[in-house]
Amino acid sequence: MLAPEQAAQEEDNMQKIDQVYQKRLERHFDELKWLYMELYGNDAMFQELCRNMELFFTDREMDLKEQDLKREAHGDWYKKNDMLGMMFYIDNFAGNMEGVMKKLDYILACNVNYLHLMPFLETPKGRSDGGYAVADFRKVQENLGTMEDLEKLTAACHKRGISVCMDFVMNHTSEEHVWAKRARQGEEEYRNRYFFYGNREIPDQYERTVPQVFPTTAPGNFTWLADAGQYVMTTFYPYQWDLNYRNPRVFNEMMYNFLYLANRGVDIIRIDAVPYIWKELGTPCRNLRQVHTIVRMMRIIGEIVCPGILLLGEVVMEPEKVVPYFGTVEKPECHMLYNVTTMATTWHTVATRDIRLLKRQLDIVDGLPKEYTFLNYLRCHDDIGWGLDYPMLMEEGIGEVSHKKYLNDFFRGYTGSSNSRGELYNEDFVTGDARFCGTTASMCGIERAGFEQNEDMMRSAIQLDLMLHAYMFMQSGIPVLYSGDEIGQVNDYTYKEDPDKSADSRYIHRGALNWELIKTIRDPETVAGRLFSGLDQLEHIRRREKAFMSTADTWTVETWDRSVLCIGRQYEGDKILGLFNFSEFDKTAWINEKDGMYTDLISGQSMEAAGVNIPAYGFYYLKRKQEEV
Ligand code: GLC
Repeated sequence: MLAPEQAAQEEDNMQKIDQVYQKRLERHFDELKWLYMELYGNDAMFQELCRNMELFFTDREMDLKEQDLKREAHGDWYKKNDMLGMMFYIDNFAGNMEGVMKKLDYILACNVNYLHLMPFLETPKGRSDGGYAVADFRKVQENLGTMEDLEKLTAACHKRGISVCMDFVMNHTSEEHVWAKRARQGEEEYRNRYFFYGNREIPDQYERTVPQVFPTTAPGNFTWLADAGQYVMTTFYPYQWDLNYRNPRVFNEMMYNFLYLANRGVDIIRIDAVPYIWKELGTPCRNLRQVHTIVRMMRIIGEIVCPGILLLGEVVMEPEKVVPYFGTVEKPECHMLYNVTTMATTWHTVATRDIRLLKRQLDIVDGLPKEYTFLNYLRCHDDIGWGLDYPMLMEEGIGEVSHKKYLNDFFRGYTGSSNSRGELYNEDFVTGDARFCGTTASMCGIERAGFEQNEDMMRSAIQLDLMLHAYMFMQSGIPVLYSGDEIGQVNDYTYKEDPDKSADSRYIHRGALNWELIKTIRDPETVAGRLFSGLDQLEHIRRREKAFMSTADTWTVETWDRSVLCIGRQYEGDKILGLFNFSEFDKTAWINEKDGMYTDLISGQSMEAAGVNIPAYGFYYLKRKQEEV
């Protein structure tokens, strides 16, 4: 029982919070209505949306509402230098949600405070696309746990200062979703939630302008349903049916699903495949204007009901297509986006030992408003699509098809100087295009060096792996580790024996976490120990030094050596220069900063930031010494 004063205090808090809802609604109502009516012109459905938003707000737990208030007051809460993410599949990491709860100590030992739990909602076995074919947005896969477990897990994470991210797959549902089943049986109401056609006329018209996502594993954008005598639009796999967002019922229901999941305590919603959600005949059906209207509405709905939530957009496109998903500073859309081009360009730089394209890419990102936050990463659960700035490469006479072939050969270890290992993904024999799969460690040479028991090769591979992480931490934005990378986990070839996975080589880098290796992380003799402690040191530096704040100034510095990248960071007078040697040879960075002495934060050595010698795959974090007062 609460003491009377305490009860009165609680009552008072609740009233305040309820008034806040009205204020938020007032702030955004006109814009939301305007956008909704522009897209749907349906007032009754708009009223329904508003009523349900309020219900979801009422249902939201008090501690989440309080957290919303705090985050609203500190809008930059996620831009601190201690933010470090990690992504994993729950079963690969610890079996199920309860298992993850038991491993929170390990997550903290990795200095991680943002967890991306890969898709865990109900999905048909064998037709799941790694969980990206959702059969029920309100049910957790039985082997992983329940919605209550999710609530317990998010609450436990919050207690320990960890935010939780989950996927919201809004472009499509699984063919096993109740809407899809009813549509298949011929119910008009549900057919209108997808794209159904009785013959090939319209599908053929679409095929003329719509590219293919999985040209080899799932060619075409439509699937014939023999039992229904219908074609259905399936941009991804045939069992992932595209939702029709022209239908306001689809938009409303998906927003209710979004709010339902937000109320389970999730902090970050990753909007999967967002560029694809609006379809229009005669267009590529990517990045259409209406997609931005929908994302903006989603942002507003979040700001009204659960403003503590962040939207993370998955936009795997070239930079000029990615940036618009931030919206404008006045009318923002996503809070965060993946820095996908930089990631692909990083691996291009590893293969070519030429930093020029990467420097140009970083300059583009550095030139964007500081409100825009990128998630940086080296590897994730998906393939690397080699989306590079080909017009720039063409200035050097490097063509797209031949360069992709070079990169794919290099990372499969086919060229003389490469120690990388991995496999192709969705090789398109018509366009000559192919993507690449492999873990960071395998791509750095750890797999080969381990197999050949070659200690020199291993030393160089670990050094490259650490240098890439050190460089990734220096980029503008928030770094995310791919689970297993902290211990140098290599490719897992067992997927080939599983008929549900064997056709999809992305499973090569989706292996189960090796807890035996984790037992050795404190042993400086082991590969896992060397990597883990190396990363630990970098992570501690990052969280200690203000210059690593997401909102710090970042820029690149000319080094006059094509293999050496220099990134500068400054925040409130603290300045750090990162130097990264992308080649297997010792190099000199011909920089010449004339603003005093520097300390290398890694070795503690005092030095000038001028003519710096850097060993093969070496790196420095040079911090300018503060003037003695
Ligand atoms: C996203 C996911 C990918 C999935 C696709 C379809 O791109 O990252 O793994 O295949 O969406 O949902």
